[in-house]
Amino acid sequence: TGYITLDPGFVNTGAACSAITYIDGEQGILRYRGYPIEQLAERSTFIEVSYLLIYGELPTEQQLREFSSRVNRHTLLHEDLKRFFDGFPRDAHPMPVLSSAVSALSTFYQDSLNPFDEPNVEMSTIRLLAKVPTLAAYAYKKSIGQPFLYPDNSLGLVENFLRMTFGLPAEPYEVDPDVAKALDMLFILHADHEQNCSTSTVRLVGSSEANLFASVSAGIQALFGPLHGGANAAVLEMLEGIQAEGGDVAKFVEQVKNKEKGVRLMGFGHRVYKNYDPRAKIIKKTADDILGKIGGNDELLDIAKRLEETALSDDYFVERKLYPNVDFYTGLIYRALGFPTKYFTVLFALGRLPGWIAHWREMIQDPATKIGRPRQIYVGAKERDYLPMSER
Ligand code: CMC
Repeated sequence: TGYITLDPGFVNTGAACSAITYIDGEQGILRYRGYPIEQLAERSTFIEVSYLLIYGELPTEQQLREFSSRVNRHTLLHEDLKRFFDGFPRDAHPMPVLSSAVSALSTFYQDSLNPFDEPNVEMSTIRLLAKVPTLAAYAYKKSIGQPFLYPDNSLGLVENFLRMTFGLPAEPYEVDPDVAKALDMLFILHADHEQNCSTSTVRLVGSSEANLFASVSAGIQALFGPLHGGANAAVLEMLEGIQAEGGDVAKFVEQVKNKEKGVRLMGFGHRVYKNYDPRAKIIKKTADDILGKIGGNDELLDIAKRLEETALSDDYFVERKLYPNVDFYTGLIYRALGFPTKYFTVLFALGRLPGWIAHWREMIQDPATKIGRPRQIYVGAKERDYLPMSER
């Protein structure tokens, strides 16, 4: 059946035809459904971008109203699902907790699992968009020992999430519009990025006709890794490490170049972008503004900027075309918004959710889809005879 060649990391393998997101890595261009990311970040909202990614077009006013209200009607969790959180250790990382809870949704919503039934897929889509922010907020509440708050469906998606995360039952919680706007924009910037590791995972799991909840749950685990979504937390830890050592960015860059202890400049480099990541450009521009408004750690921002400047004027990074990626400046903003480092990757997952859903739906509807099943080149032992234990 033909010969097999290897392509480690699928660097040169096209896995799908997709009409969702366009990237030109050489020029630093990113578009969702044809719309430049810069325009969406400035003028759209996360709920509108979710609609755009999933259904292919910007919604009319009425379509958006209906979509938002459908999502709002499903934000509540089944009471039994809330007890799920009791089973995890309090210091558990919120990413595996979120992945497990999303996986568990397929046990609560067995009525919407058929991947080939349109209304089923639609129902699972709405349930995921509505319930994942609630699950994410509960994972946070569990980690700090505070009571869960029921969603308030008079609020928008992001405001509701902020209230469930930072609010307390006994006190009214006023959502700071600057905070909500900043988070909404960061979610837009994370909403899709074509065949990245977690999205490819969602598509691969879904190619076996596994349901949408199961596929997204696997995507969350893929995103958890430090080379993917986990990088946003790793960047902040790196910046704090440099700060603790006296703020010497040149020394750190030398360590990276010498590959000391395998240390990498986290938040730098990208498989596709060989130019400045357009998302990082937007985030960098707004970091000053946002941190100025809501207050943040200026010293860490200063270290980040000096680190970037030093790296970008160094041959090692220039030759390898390594630029800041989306994760380089986000952690500083998340921290300023009040989120602990451990929680940063959960925020990435909330942003990426509509992208995963859009890709799963595109994959399942595509007649060209086949079950993902790569081949291998066997390099193990030749045929040999089984030896009884006494002769080994
Ligand atoms: N720091 C130092 N050297 C690097 C870095 C880095 N961040 N990234 C790549 N390199 C070097 C790498 O050592 C290699 O050099 P050499 O040929 O001498 O061994 C060369 O650049 C090519 O790197 P690669 O690992 O073959 O590139 P890749 O396309 O397989 O990996 C990457 C892409 C994003 C995993 C990698 O750049 C990396 O590890 N970056 C740090 C982690 C990070 O910021 N991840 C977030 C990615 S963007 C958002 C997301 O997907 O979550």
